[in-house]
Amino acid sequence: MTMLLKRLRYIIALLSSMTILLVLYFQNSATLSFYSFVRKPKSHICLEDRGNSSWFSERYKPTVPLLLNSTNSELHANIFSWWKELQDVPNVTNYTEVVNQLFSLFPDEEHYSDAGPDRCRTCAVVGNSGNLLGSNYGQLIDSHDFVIRINKGPTEDYEKDVGNKTTHRILYPESAVDLNDNTHLVLLPIKVLDMQWLISAFTTKNITQTYTEVPSTIKASKDKVMILHPEFMRYVHDNWAEGHGRYPSTGFLALIFTLHICDKVNVFGFGANSNRNWHHYFDETLTSFESSSHGGDFENQTIYQLHQENKISMYKGLT
Ligand SMILES: *[C@@H]1O[C@H](CO)[C@@H](O)[C@H](O)[C@H]1NC(C)=O
Ligand SMILES: *[C@@H]1O[C@H](CO)[C@@H](O)[C@H](O)[C@H]1NC(C)=O
Ligand SMILES: *[C@@H]1O[C@H](CO)[C@@H](O)[C@H](O)[C@H]1NC(C)=O
Ligand SMILES: *[C@@H]1O[C@H](CO)[C@@H](O)[C@H](O)[C@H]1NC(C)=O
Ligand SMILES: *[C@@H]1O[C@H](CO)[C@@H](O)[C@H](O)[C@H]1NC(C)=O
Ligand SMILES: *[C@@H]1O[C@H](CO)[C@@H](O)[C@H](O)[C@H]1NC(C)=O
Ligand SMILES: *[C@@H]1O[C@H](CO)[C@@H](O)[C@H](O)[C@H]1NC(C)=O
Repeated sequence: MTMLLKRLRYIIALLSSMTILLVLYFQNSATLSFYSFVRKPKSHICLEDRGNSSWFSERYKPTVPLLLNSTNSELHANIFSWWKELQDVPNVTNYTEVVNQLFSLFPDEEHYSDAGPDRCRTCAVVGNSGNLLGSNYGQLIDSHDFVIRINKGPTEDYEKDVGNKTTHRILYPESAVDLNDNTHLVLLPIKVLDMQWLISAFTTKNITQTYTEVPSTIKASKDKVMILHPEFMRYVHDNWAEGHGRYPSTGFLALIFTLHICDKVNVFGFGANSNRNWHHYFDETLTSFESSSHGGDFENQTIYQLHQENKISMYKGLT
């Protein structure tokens, strides 16, 4: 009898510990599925296997400052002297004073520090290559969260091939065009004067000349203005262009910038034509691939390597 009782007690103990285990198990899986629900599973477009590339990680520096603000504006001496060399205007104004003025006018904040495993931001970076003509990429380009365009590249009259959405436009005074209210003006400053022009364009409108005539003003939202960091330009020059050319092309800078603020990068309208000339979809200008101040060949190789490594996807249009 006592034997039987003992065995019964043993079985009950066993059963209850099993129950506890089961409860724990189900609780856990419930918590898990609850979390995966709350954390919003990453969309499949960002889940693709991006591989493990030492080539990429040797170059990609996630901590580089992308955009200038009042707290990160002080430049290391070697960066300042490199950047200063790019300027083909004789008098370099006091950089510190200009920066102070910039951030009394334009947003002074940290942008795009939200990278993380849960973010799935899709981006189209749209170059100005003639390979866009007849491509029918318009709808596809507009379906991205961010659409980053470069210099004067228009959308009007080319919507079918290039789309009509522009969240960011990277430009400098000599390539400036008017923007929609919902587009970020991203200044590529190649000289202090470019920053002064930006200030002037929204205030006194009295800078009308750099090395060439520039618009005295520009239609754009003041509270959406951003300025690429000179240290970022130097980083792209050193790490990605490996010192080729005097400084990186706007398109190449735009592409690496996009790589830093987005999780899925699709690249449109990059590439020279068969005669190794850069040509635009919107005009007849031809620029030789080699003879510019940019390392065209090397930039091209790097972009193809990024594609090979699955970090970007190239859409080549009709080439
Ligand atoms: C990628 O490779 C490096 C070095 O080979 C290794 O330390 C790292 O754990 C790998 N990461 C992944 C996600 O496989
Ligand atoms: C450059 O220096 C000259 C002479 O000091 C001055 O007249 C001119 O306004 C300066 N330009 C800019 C853009 O500051
Ligand atoms: C530049 O301006 C800052 C702030 O006004 C001042 O402290 C600094 O001495 C100036 N530097 C030069 C070289 O004039
Ligand atoms: C400026 O940007 C840096 C990152 O480059 C960030 O750490 C800092 O908080 C930003 N400062 C302001 C005022 O937003
Ligand atoms: C872009 O095109 C779409 C559809 O073709 C249209 O609905 C939208 O209003 C256009 N947006 C702009 C900013 O032109
Ligand atoms: C533009 O106007 C400002 C303020 O009146 C003045 O300080 C500056 O020197 C002017 N710049 C040019 C290039 O005329
Ligand atoms: C760019 O690089 C790719 C891949 O190496 C090559 O096929 C293409 O011809 C290059 N373009 C130019 C204009 O050299």
